[in-house]
Amino acid sequence: MSGTNERVLSGIQPTMDSFHVGNWFGALTQWVDLQQTHDCFYCVVDLHALTVNHDPTAIKQRTLASVAQLFAIGIDPNKATVFVQSHLAEHSQLAWVLSCMAGFGEASRMTQFKDKSQKEGTDRSTVGLFTYPILQAADILLYQPSRVPVGDDQRQHLELTRDLAQRFNSTYGETFKIPETMTVVGNSRVLDLQDPTAKMSKSSPAGAVFLMDSNDQITKKIKSAVTDSDREVSFDPVAKPGIANLIGLLAAASEEELETIAAQVAGLGYGAFKQQVADALVARIEPIRETTKELLSDPATLQRQIQAGAQKARVVASSTMTAVNQRLGLLPESP
Ligand code: TRP
Repeated sequence: MSGTNERVLSGIQPTMDSFHVGNWFGALTQWVDLQQTHDCFYCVVDLHALTVNHDPTAIKQRTLASVAQLFAIGIDPNKATVFVQSHLAEHSQLAWVLSCMAGFGEASRMTQFKDKSQKEGTDRSTVGLFTYPILQAADILLYQPSRVPVGDDQRQHLELTRDLAQRFNSTYGETFKIPETMTVVGNSRVLDLQDPTAKMSKSSPAGAVFLMDSNDQITKKIKSAVTDSDREVSFDPVAKPGIANLIGLLAAASEEELETIAAQVAGLGYGAFKQQVADALVARIEPIRETTKELLSDPATLQRQIQAGAQKARVVASSTMTAVNQRLGLLPESP
């Protein structure tokens, strides 16, 4: 996309072999749409994946698989700049600078850190997990985006990003654009099929439909989704969260309004309804899965595309980093 369009930047972690429909309908379909109107930078944040126990034999493949899936869902490397975080040293460089500007108390208030460190146990939580939001701020600010499309759970990290950018600008002079948060519209909250009070997540494999699942796996997961003891479908997210979630999935998969789909399926028996949801998901996911496999069967081409992405990203990131170092008063390498 031409440089006159507003820029957006977003990131996703390569923590699994496959994204799930929560990622897809929650955020990634918006990434695809934004290519029509914005200058898009999409980053696979592999350094963030190091903040919790990571598997060194798997991360390379997962990074490749993540990029392949982004292409397969419709992100076009000729329109958007798709790149891998660790290929640009600038992310770590700016993260250090920002960590020297962030307050310890400020970072301690991040609810995602509090949740995750509670789960891991304080002793096993790393400093990297603590500074995760600061690396995220660096991911964003390097590219001077006007907006950052993220899920609702990332709002606090975006506020921190804006605060750090403002603080840097007022201390050292205008350097960073202050990015706006752009929360995902529509079907942003896909719930766990086995526990429709929780968000769909990779850590609950039976409750999540993955883009790399086989048609049979998809159908099986939808058919065993937890519902309620009624017999007929009606849309009621409070009393019938399981059914409401499936209606949401059907609407997203058929690219229809939620209200339209809710009216269409009202009164159906659960068996027939679930079959319809499964069929709609299979119809959308099958071509994505097959395209992903095809892309992964030629890793050299995929890697060349990733390298081209890094080269495009570097132009922007290195110019921001040069300005940052200059404002900080660091001695330049060349006289
Ligand atoms: N923390 C984000 C998430 O879990 C991922 C992320 C890392 C990100 N860097 C980013 C999102 C930069 C937007 C912009 O979803």
